[in-house]
Order: sequence, then structure tokens, then C-alpha cells
Amino acid sequence: MSAYTQELRSTVRAMMADGKGILAMDESKGTCDRRFEKLGIPTTEERRRTYRELIITTPQLADFVSGAILFDETIRQSTREGIPFVKVMQTAGMIPGIKLDLGAKDLAGSPGEKVTEGLDGLRDRIAEYYQMGARFAKWRAVITIDTDLPTQAGLVANAHALARYAALCQEGGLVPIVEPEVLIDGAHSIERCYEVTERTLQVTFEQLRLQRVALDTMILKPSMVISGASCSEQASIERVAELTVGCLRNNVPVSVPGIAFLSGGQSNERATAHLNLINAQFAAQCPWVVTFSYARAIQQPALDCWHGDDANIPTAQQLLYHRAKLNGAARKGKYTPEMEQAV
Ligand code: 13P
Repeated sequence: MSAYTQELRSTVRAMMADGKGILAMDESKGTCDRRFEKLGIPTTEERRRTYRELIITTPQLADFVSGAILFDETIRQSTREGIPFVKVMQTAGMIPGIKLDLGAKDLAGSPGEKVTEGLDGLRDRIAEYYQMGARFAKWRAVITIDTDLPTQAGLVANAHALARYAALCQEGGLVPIVEPEVLIDGAHSIERCYEVTERTLQVTFEQLRLQRVALDTMILKPSMVISGASCSEQASIERVAELTVGCLRNNVPVSVPGIAFLSGGQSNERATAHLNLINAQFAAQCPWVVTFSYARAIQQPALDCWHGDDANIPTAQQLLYHRAKLNGAARKGKYTPEMEQAV
């Protein structure tokens, strides 16, 4: 047991609160800049700061967002008036979280596969972020589907890193979000995605057990079981919900308190509709809380609207609030497509 077990439990409860999910806003500098570049927004620290201020100061966002995952640069930033972002979030009732991985790098000897780095010095980084107010963390592993991928070597290397990270988080008072993302890229079928997601989850939980991670104080952040983005036959919302729940039921222990999906390149509406159907039709089959931890599927309309022009901030905030609200409804199985209109 960690000295922090009681605190970890109460953090998990707060993260998984009814009607709420987690907002991912932990894009690395490189990823954030790429998204800015697409819209012609200057890729400066000040623009990134302003955009993140827009997000966390959105009025009433905490109605649907229990916590937000920050990037290292962001957790150290403050509002234009000089109030630290961490303070703003705590005052609003949102728990600060931190991205701890340092990105996915090529896996030696395994062309086409990545392994996520960041374990060296992690204990000290965790202590610093805890001091700064973070109470949970995330680490993302990426698994690619191709004819001969993923390999067992790729799966084990990534799961091992996830497990070492999760154990260190629990030792240091942060709830680990364990994120093994099976990428949507490719022409594979939904059945092939099921198979790869199943293997990924199996190896991940084997490694979590090996490293003695307490399953009742972690959150799983999986991808949904879904057709490849360029597959000619796209599975229905019903099929995605059914296979996703089936795969999770077969492979995620009941002691895991919560599952918070990533959106992974799905459209905003699809990501919400999938989560909704899972909760509306399969809640009785899910022993875990099932919610969202979306980045793109919550932020995109707000980012497009802001476009780097601060005159658009109030409207961008309304759009962000709206997407959070729709996903909050989906978390309870109470979303309808008609709600999309009522911004
Ligand atoms: P998306 O919802 O955009 O996939 O991002 C979630 C995330 O945190 C990726 O690591």
C-alpha cells in the first residue's frame, strides 16, 4: 500500500464524479504548434498560454470536467493577471493532472513501432508536480496496427513502461491514467482492432500486476474498438459500442474503478455518440465508471473559433462548454443528436 492510498482513492472518486469526465489539454509543445500552424496561429509560448487560459477559465466548465491534464509548460503558466493555472483550476473545482511521458520514439529493431520514453528521473518529476498541485497523471503508449504489427516485443515494451510509470505515480501520490492507445490509422477492420486491443489490454494488465500496481487506484484510458480510419466499411455506432464493451469486459479487471476513453481522431459527434451508447445500453455490463478523457473531440470547435484572435474568446468558451456538456450527458447515457444544435 502506498502512503497515499486514501488520498489516491478520494482523487479517483473526484475524477470519476457523476456526469463528469476528464479534459485532455496536455498536447506537447510540438503537437500544439502543429495544430496552431494548421490555422495560421503564431506558435509562440504566449499564444499557447492564452489558448490554455481560454480553456481553464471557461465559465462552469467544472460542471462536466472533473480534472484536466496539463503539459509541463502549461502547469507552470499563469493567467494574464498572474494567477497560476493550478490555482485557477483548484478554485473552479477541477483537479490538475500532468502528462508525464516524454513522447513515443522509434522502437529499436522493430520498424514501424514506437515505445514511449520518460522513466529516467520520473520519481523526482512526480515529487515536483505533486508539490505544484497535480493529483493525477497520464502516460500514453501508442500501438500501431499493420499486417505484422504490433509485435509482442512492441506490446511488452510499452506495457512495461506503463506499469513502471503507474507504480511510481502511486508511490508519489498521483493517480495514474494508463493510456494504451491503439491507433485509428489504417485500413483494418473493426474485428482486427478488437483483436489488437485485446492483446494490448492483456499484456498491459500482466505488466501492471507484475509491477504491483494497485488496480483500484488507477484509471484506464483506452481507445474504442473501431474500424480503421481508411477502412472502406465503417462499423455502426451500435457495433462500436458492443465490441468495445465486449473487449473491455473480457480484459479489464473489475477492481479498476474507471475507464476514460480517448477520442483518437473520431469526429466530435461520433466520440460523443459512442460514449453515450455504451452508457445508455451497456451500463449493466460495465462494473467500472465509463467516461471521457477527450482532447480533440472537446477542444476542436473552440480552437477553430478562437483562431488566435482574442476577440473570439467568449464564443470559443461557449463552444468548449457545449462539447463538455454533451459529453457529460453521454457519460450518463442521456445525449441525443438534437442536443448538438442548442449551443
Ligand atoms: P484525443 O482525445 O485527441 O485522442 O486525445 C486524448 C489524449 O490524451 C491523447 O493522448
